Amino acid sequence: MSLAINTDRLLSRIQDLGQIGALPGGGCKRLALSVEDAKGRELVCGWFRDAGLSIHTDVIGNTWAIREGRENKAPVVMGSHIDTVATGGLYDGNLGVLGGFEVIESLIEAGIETEHPLAVAFFTNEEGARFAPDMMGSGTCQGALDLEDMLCSVGIDGVSVQEALGTIGAQGNAPVGALAPSAFLELHIEQGPVLEAENLQIGVVTGVQGISWTEFSIEGQSAHAGTTPMALRHDAGVVAAGIAMEARAIAQDLGPPQVATVGRMEFTPDLVNVVPEKATLTVDLRNTDEANLQVAETRLQAVARAYCAAEGCTLSQRTLARFEPVVFDVQLVDLIEKSAEKLGFSHRRMPSGAGHDAQMFAPNCPSAMIFVPSKDGLSHNIHEFTAPQDLANGVRLLAEVALTRAGVVQSKGHIA
Ligand code: GLV
Ligand code: MN
Ligand code: MN
Repeated sequence: MSLAINTDRLLSRIQDLGQIGALPGGGCKRLALSVEDAKGRELVCGWFRDAGLSIHTDVIGNTWAIREGRENKAPVVMGSHIDTVATGGLYDGNLGVLGGFEVIESLIEAGIETEHPLAVAFFTNEEGARFAPDMMGSGTCQGALDLEDMLCSVGIDGVSVQEALGTIGAQGNAPVGALAPSAFLELHIEQGPVLEAENLQIGVVTGVQGISWTEFSIEGQSAHAGTTPMALRHDAGVVAAGIAMEARAIAQDLGPPQVATVGRMEFTPDLVNVVPEKATLTVDLRNTDEANLQVAETRLQAVARAYCAAEGCTLSQRTLARFEPVVFDVQLVDLIEKSAEKLGFSHRRMPSGAGHDAQMFAPNCPSAMIFVPSKDGLSHNIHEFTAPQDLANGVRLLAEVALTRAGVVQSKGHIA
């Protein structure tokens, strides 16, 4: 069975959503719970409403729209996120939401009824670029993260999640946990170079690597840059730089799939002629193997302590995010693979290097993901791009898998 989807409509919606928070040169910035996020939510919910879906929002702003099934069963949920990083593209997250919606709209147009309801969802703050941790909304609704802790999380701009939800009016009445899928499916761009390099159309995602985010804060002593001899300094900046270099060295030493990234570093007082008294940096460590991820964490903490001691600085640290590697449901992964074969798409199995909402559903219901290629492997970059044909392939495959899980009970046509 192959559902006819409307690729032009999908593409124009991706472009329309990308206009909200559009950046010069392409891409967009819709940080979680920002004014732009509010406008994005409004646009997408308007489309859901026009299609006659019933819309629900929970207390952390997760939103889902349901097309009822023939039976009163748990829905098959397709979804992802519409928040972006500050240098985001048009596809990360948005494809999973608009692609899921395209499946539902095409079903409505084709007069196809399903046994299970079908839902499309977007989850609050998947990116973690404003508020930590990432996958906040999906993690909270699936019980992995505590609601009160998440509402108190303070963003990089000093605003809490609770305040931001109130400011943009994104807080709903549904309790967290109200969304209980029978299966969860997320279509996403690969965000890496593998599918393009191997000239493949589809990635069948087997799981997601573990993620460890730590913020290190170093306290030293500010001093005059010209008068203070090198041996008498307590330079918090030098310690931060040392930790950054060591993070990379540890990843190189452990080898793939270990990766390490220092994405933020701030100095105080941040002046050309003053030895920094304070430095804060974040380290993002990821590995598909939990034991190896723990080795990387332990080694990083040891070098951070050693650098601090050598410079006469003090160190504090806090965990911003910590998620163990996730393995997706074997049967659902098999179904995606078989469906890709049936539709004639070239494919391979692969783990995800990025975090995704699907990983938060995996402990509670069969969950899996479909990847489509990313041009030059770029994502979290305004030049992120996936070719229209690849987008359409992903949505067709999503439809095939969702319909198999939801069970077709009536068709007036449009199914080949
Ligand atoms: C979130 O998308 C992440 O992988 O950092
Ligand atoms: Mn994403
Ligand atoms: Mn992302």
